[in-house]
Amino acid sequence: MRRTLPIVLMALMAGTVLPARALEGPIPAKPGETATAPAASAKPRVVIVATGGTIAGAGADAANSATYQAAKVPVDKLIAAVPAIAQVADVRGEQAFQIASESFTNAQLIELAKKVSALVKRDDVDGVVITHGTDTVEETAYFLDLVVRTDKPIVMVASMRPSTAISADGALNLLDAVTVAGANDARAKGVLLTMNDEIQAGRDTTKRVNIKPSAFFSQWGPLGMVVEGKTYWFRAPVKRHGTTSEFNIDGIDSLPEVAIVYGSGNMHPEPYTTAVAGGAKAIIHAGTGNGSVAGYLVDTLKDLRSKGVLIIRSSRVGDGFVLRNAEQPDDKYDWVVAHDLNPQKAKILAAVALTKTQDSKELQRIFWEY
Ligand code: DGL
Repeated sequence: MRRTLPIVLMALMAGTVLPARALEGPIPAKPGETATAPAASAKPRVVIVATGGTIAGAGADAANSATYQAAKVPVDKLIAAVPAIAQVADVRGEQAFQIASESFTNAQLIELAKKVSALVKRDDVDGVVITHGTDTVEETAYFLDLVVRTDKPIVMVASMRPSTAISADGALNLLDAVTVAGANDARAKGVLLTMNDEIQAGRDTTKRVNIKPSAFFSQWGPLGMVVEGKTYWFRAPVKRHGTTSEFNIDGIDSLPEVAIVYGSGNMHPEPYTTAVAGGAKAIIHAGTGNGSVAGYLVDTLKDLRSKGVLIIRSSRVGDGFVLRNAEQPDDKYDWVVAHDLNPQKAKILAAVALTKTQDSKELQRIFWEY
């Protein structure tokens, strides 16, 4: 054990990502495979919390892979449509909402997180699956990652095609999600998303394509895969989440307003000033390039900052991360950088952080650590 510990500590301090194996004690029987099984007799107990989305969608015709109504099929029907789930875990369903995910509000995010927090506290629950629309599953996943204090697997699942379509992807995605939610080696890896055979980190994954099953990507890659009921892990998250988070949904009943302003050429100050007039306590500047701010906007942002509004520079560019004090003098203007978080993820972290602090230095620490 002594041989392993220093290597783990050094790697984590260096901010690298270790193969999950190095983090998990004994080497599995077969190299590369971390087949996990609960105690031989008992199947894991998994609760499926349904919120709507395409995975619960229905189209008029089997050829309708993109034309359909989201949020139609109730959770018990979703479960009944995949009999193989019963081989994997003892599951029960709860219908939290029945909405298309673009309609999620902060109040519903908080309600869902409190429900999940209560479920994971139960001794008769080993893992939770949440069925969700793909449009904002990346925000919900990150929010739960930040505020639900648990090591138990919380697995988001969605689909790009309705269950009524030829080659629908929801059934296998749901079976995979239940597999992961019941897998011991999925513990303490943060909130996860199973889509298209992959296990993505809830923090990192984002919807990059709007019309095909391979829609979700993380610039840092998936954490692993699920293949025929087995989980295969290749990396583990190093950012704070779950039990290592300083945030707790049990103490959060509302979220401060945070607005995103999308950067482009020929900008105007009104989107920023109107957002603040509407109650925004922080602005996520989804800037061009490395979160760049047009010269003619600097005075507007300086004025808003002088009124206590937090200015957080993210980027409209999908990958990479915003560098502090590179092209933009963040120290001089007391701005925060969103690091590798895209604007919608930065909005979630900013809102959660603002439940604890409005100090820009503290906010920057939080953006480095989560
Ligand atoms: N309205 C979208 C949503 O609920 C449908 C997309 C989907 O779930 O795949 O997110």
